[in-house]
Amino acid sequence: MNILVIGSGGREHALCWKIKQSNHLKRLYCAPGNGGIAQIAECVDIRVDDIEALLRFALSKKIDLTIVGPEVPLIAGVVDAFVKKGLKIFGPSQAASLLEGSKVFAKEFMQRRNIPTAAYQVFNEAVLAEAFLETAAFPLVVKADGIAAGKGVYVCAHLPEAKSAVHEIMVKKIFGSAGSRIVIEECLQGREVSVLAVCDGKHFFVLPSAQDHKRIFDDDIGPNTGGMGSFSPSPWAQAEAMDQIIKQIIEPAVRGMYQEGNPFKGVLFAGLMLTKDGPKALEFNVRFGDPETQSIVPRLQSDIVEIFLAACDGRLHEIKVQRDQRSCVCVARAPGGYPGQYQNGFVIHGLDETKDDERVVFHAGTKNDGGVLVTHGGRVLGVTSKGANLQEAALKAYHALQKISFEHMFFRRDIAIRFLNERAANGRDQGR
Ligand code: AMP
Ligand code: GLY
Repeated sequence: MNILVIGSGGREHALCWKIKQSNHLKRLYCAPGNGGIAQIAECVDIRVDDIEALLRFALSKKIDLTIVGPEVPLIAGVVDAFVKKGLKIFGPSQAASLLEGSKVFAKEFMQRRNIPTAAYQVFNEAVLAEAFLETAAFPLVVKADGIAAGKGVYVCAHLPEAKSAVHEIMVKKIFGSAGSRIVIEECLQGREVSVLAVCDGKHFFVLPSAQDHKRIFDDDIGPNTGGMGSFSPSPWAQAEAMDQIIKQIIEPAVRGMYQEGNPFKGVLFAGLMLTKDGPKALEFNVRFGDPETQSIVPRLQSDIVEIFLAACDGRLHEIKVQRDQRSCVCVARAPGGYPGQYQNGFVIHGLDETKDDERVVFHAGTKNDGGVLVTHGGRVLGVTSKGANLQEAALKAYHALQKISFEHMFFRRDIAIRFLNERAANGRDQGR
């Protein structure tokens, strides 16, 4: 089969790496890809939001299956455009992508379907939102309705912070039309966990649980980033918690979308808070997570192309997905200054020395510059390793990471380790 992956990050490198192992593969393309993806696929210089050009390319190269990484093309309707031309594509329709494309849609859907989530209010005008804030209890969370490159959520400790969030989103319009409506919601306390399900519209199966590390510094301090590392499984996603997540969140979401005429095909990503009252949904994403995918995909033993095909054809219930019981840890390396100002173009050394059966380096922001691999983005690489348990996987990932270097390099030193220490203190077992 000829397969096209849309995207250019670590998530897409992990997907290409796994697709490359499939017996179904003839040729693998990635648009636009990156320096690492170029080593295993043919990269084509098409932007992820240029749906016309992606479609032309897929038709001209006789692409049999397309996998969409990021949310932007999904929300813009890439799946509908491909399906209209008879092309097979893994991802939700534009209508189903509203689960990520509009926080208001997602919250109203959750309310209709009795999916546990934070209590909320929607506002169309800044003055009304500000009046509400005057009498509200803090902390609370202010969210722009539309997508804002992961920056539209403000967790506010007090009134001035919340007013400033409303002002930035609705008056200054720093996210453009994504901020014409906002959601103000209760701030949930607990453990965060990401649970992703592959869906075919009617059936689904849940992928191994994972944990992101959004803050730039150790101990979850500093500004949010695109993710400084991930691991799978999450020690908090014990069997009981996973059963609750599936019964109370994933199952009603898939059934609800089906019953409401928007069957969900693709990856449904539930960002969850495990609260003392049980799991609650913080958000839905309509795609693979980044960097969660980098630690989930190496734990799948089955042929991922067979999974995608079964999902596209509505027969997920007919296949059995095999998992690797080992744990996986992915540690991102970033250039100094990230997530603020940083420079590109530093030569990356030591990559060849890190290859073995359990370790793989997923590129996120790299570029081939005349035969030399250089940094080209905020998160440059994700050094990923499997191990018998999380501790072993983390040790191996950090060991491999020591061999790689570029100028002004930065990474967190506590990916997975912080949680391992907490788990040891709590005497808990490994999750699923
Ligand atoms: P989202 O883009 O909705 O996942 O929000 C980004 C991050 O903000 C989440 O990963 C949480 O850490 C935090 N967050 C979002 N909503 C809430 C909430 N209701 N309570 C507490 N934290 C939240
Ligand atoms: N890791 C969070 C996301 O992919 O949105």
